[in-house]
Amino acid sequence: MGSYGMLAKRAVLTNTPVMVQIQELIRGVKDCVSLAQGVVYWQPPKQALEKVQELVWEPSVSRYGADEGLPELREALLKKLRQENNLNKSSVMVTAGANQAFVNIVLTLCDAGDSVVMFAPYYFNSYMSFQMTGVTDILVGPGDPQTLYPDADWLEKTLLQTKPTPKLVSVVNPGNPSGTYIPEPLLQRISNICKNAGCWLVIDNTYEYFMYDGRKHACLEDNHIVNIFSFSKAYGMMGWRVGYIAFPSEVEGFAAQLLKVQDNIPICASIISQRLALHSLEMGPTWVTDKVKDLVKNRELLLEALSPLGKESVKGGEGAIYLWAKLPEEYKDDFEVVRWLAKKHGVVLIPGCSSGCPGYVRISFGGLVEDQCRFASERLKRGLEELVSQGMVP
Ligand SMILES: Cc1ncc(COP(=O)(O)O)c(C=O)c1O
Repeated sequence: MGSYGMLAKRAVLTNTPVMVQIQELIRGVKDCVSLAQGVVYWQPPKQALEKVQELVWEPSVSRYGADEGLPELREALLKKLRQENNLNKSSVMVTAGANQAFVNIVLTLCDAGDSVVMFAPYYFNSYMSFQMTGVTDILVGPGDPQTLYPDADWLEKTLLQTKPTPKLVSVVNPGNPSGTYIPEPLLQRISNICKNAGCWLVIDNTYEYFMYDGRKHACLEDNHIVNIFSFSKAYGMMGWRVGYIAFPSEVEGFAAQLLKVQDNIPICASIISQRLALHSLEMGPTWVTDKVKDLVKNRELLLEALSPLGKESVKGGEGAIYLWAKLPEEYKDDFEVVRWLAKKHGVVLIPGCSSGCPGYVRISFGGLVEDQCRFASERLKRGLEELVSQGMVP
């Protein structure tokens, strides 16, 4: 019944989710290990899980909750935002993960036809959120070739020259898929440029705790800034679907418009998940940072595995859970290389084309315990050595 032509252009013209394509690839290959999905290997804190185990019989868990989130969770989050992120004037809304938070923000701040700005390599889901809401004029700015930091000079010029002025600039800090962080002075400069242009700045802080080698994550607060956070990676809560938005309390109407969107998508984030988030938060940030410390070994193993590509070709790993690598010049079709690595060498990566950068791959170092990661690294190294020396031998 029906035809392709009857489906909404907003859906049809939106990119296919890369993770769905990768899951399909994994299903089709016997015995492969994944360095693809952006996940962590740990589960939520044991004490927190034990507490929610008791909750399934509580009637409130099966009812709807407040759209903006459980009051006790929001209170705990406001305290966390003040103490850890130096965000003192923000309001908070709990969402079903950071991806839903992003869609809420796009629907609240952008109209179909608006232009927006992202930086390459960009987070594929944010790109899709724009596409599917009719915000199809997506200006993709360059990252510095050495550091992958967003190019603030390009941003300044672009916001000045583009008429009407782009509505929103989106950055991820630290970055997915780049694995780099945005130093605070640069983030402040980007913020000033947005403010002067009358443009929103949306900062996705999903990996706020995932900083390495003594680097510190910092947030900014102002009336043109929206911050997004997630429980998924920090507390190993990917499947529980909890994130939150910190938005400026002083902007008239913001909360009211945001609530309209929320009430029509999840109504509220799952109540039991919010309770788990609250108990996880009670463990304090060191519960998370202790886990994150262990990822350094995985990063080392994978850096070694990527060595056949040459030192200059490998970036990232300063933050988040990603390394970002350039394939040899002749391999512009990165998806082909990803398929070959999966089928021939049993190891799966994410192709850079899904983030606007063909010829690159993203490698996640969060999802495997050290022994599994060592095993995956050996496969990857063997595959890359073959790629470099002999090409994609069937
Ligand atoms: C930058 C970024 N934002 C958002 C998400 C989605 O997080 P959530 O599970 O909270 O929706 C991810 C997950 O990979 C991410 O990397």
